[in-house]
Amino acid sequence: MVGAAQEATPATGASGTGQAVLELRGLTKRFGETFAVEGVSLDVQPGEVFTLLGPSGCGKSTTLRLIAGLEHPDGGEIRLRNQLIASARSMVPPDRRGLGMVFQSYAIWPHMTVAENVAFPLKVRRSTRPSRAEIRRRVSEALDMVGLSGLEERPSTQLSGGQQQRVALARAIINRPDVLLLDEPLSNLDATLREQMRGEIKRVQRELNIAVVLVTHDQTEALMLSDRVAVMNAGKVEQLGAPADIYERPTSPFVRDFLGRVAVFEATTTPGAGAGSLEIAAERCRLQLTESQVDGVGSAGRPVHVVCKLEDLRIDEAAHGAAHAIDVVVEDVLYLGDRLEYKVRTPSGRELAVFGPRRGGLAAGTRAGVVIDPHGVTVWDS
Ligand SMILES: Nc1ncnc2c1ncn2[C@@H]1O[C@H](COP(=O)(O)OP(=O)(O)OP(=O)(O)O)[C@@H](O)[C@H]1O
Ligand SMILES: [Mg+2]
Repeated sequence: MVGAAQEATPATGASGTGQAVLELRGLTKRFGETFAVEGVSLDVQPGEVFTLLGPSGCGKSTTLRLIAGLEHPDGGEIRLRNQLIASARSMVPPDRRGLGMVFQSYAIWPHMTVAENVAFPLKVRRSTRPSRAEIRRRVSEALDMVGLSGLEERPSTQLSGGQQQRVALARAIINRPDVLLLDEPLSNLDATLREQMRGEIKRVQRELNIAVVLVTHDQTEALMLSDRVAVMNAGKVEQLGAPADIYERPTSPFVRDFLGRVAVFEATTTPGAGAGSLEIAAERCRLQLTESQVDGVGSAGRPVHVVCKLEDLRIDEAAHGAAHAIDVVVEDVLYLGDRLEYKVRTPSGRELAVFGPRRGGLAAGTRAGVVIDPHGVTVWDS
């Protein structure tokens, strides 16, 4: 499949009919009694960044390794460019799948120069091996793309972590794969470099118009880079959607609590006060939501959970005593650099975290109101 077939395929992947470049159907992998991956089904479209997001041990790497051909599934199927590449009974070896891969440990060969590392996939090709001049041209093009021009002859041992990362990326794209697999590629980098490399990956992905399957446990990375995200939990896909979908409209408590910090309040829908009206009795606060926000969570008077992202809470001295605000006392102020985090005490006695602008902060002991932005609220059966 690799060589000739792949050369003939445009970088956009499948035939341009809107067909998925990669399909997983009921994919299952067990290690002993543990289901590392259990019945995972998903499609990756040509040219999209598709992310597997979830906590440690949820099966992200195993899924990626199944796609790469480094693990053999116990059940289900994987199709790449409409060809069966893995099932319990059949298996196309990794080097015949025509995929690019970057793993967390960059796996750069220390005894090779930068250029030799990057050229490696071209040199071991089963089909026609390009001429030396062609290899040199492609290596320099790939290095250019990742911002490493001129480092061709540098021994790999004399590279920083970030540079090794770029070499691994250049090596992964040298064969112009239409699918690139990335397993936590940025987790060994410091914050600044990580941000820079996120940009680089996105730029390279757009320039080459390739599909990327990214594995990460970092929600910011997932939300920033992805066209679609599958949130995994215990070997299964818990929710699949665009970043804004999973962030704003989580369909399970697991996804809701995994994506960002939230505050959960016990509330009741208030009969007679109009649709969407809720009361958080313990905090003496009334909340007006839209009818659709409380749709499907039981009848009036029933207890529900109101869940707010912390960034949808606002602290305001002037809102103290307002019916729609929670009266609080500021107990502590933490300086986070770009903003302040307040620890406040609510009427029920619970501690709540609220963010505020870094200038004009409130002092400990101040009485204030915490206002909930109703747009960001989700309501759940309690
Ligand atoms: N080779 C193996 N042998 C036995 N169990 C394994 C093996 N590889 C993974 N597992 C188990 O399968 C489950 C999923 O592991 P996996 O590496 O896919 O998780 P992950 O989501 O990538 O986690 P992390 O974020 O920590 O990398 C875990 O329970 C893990 O212990
Ligand atoms: Mg992993």
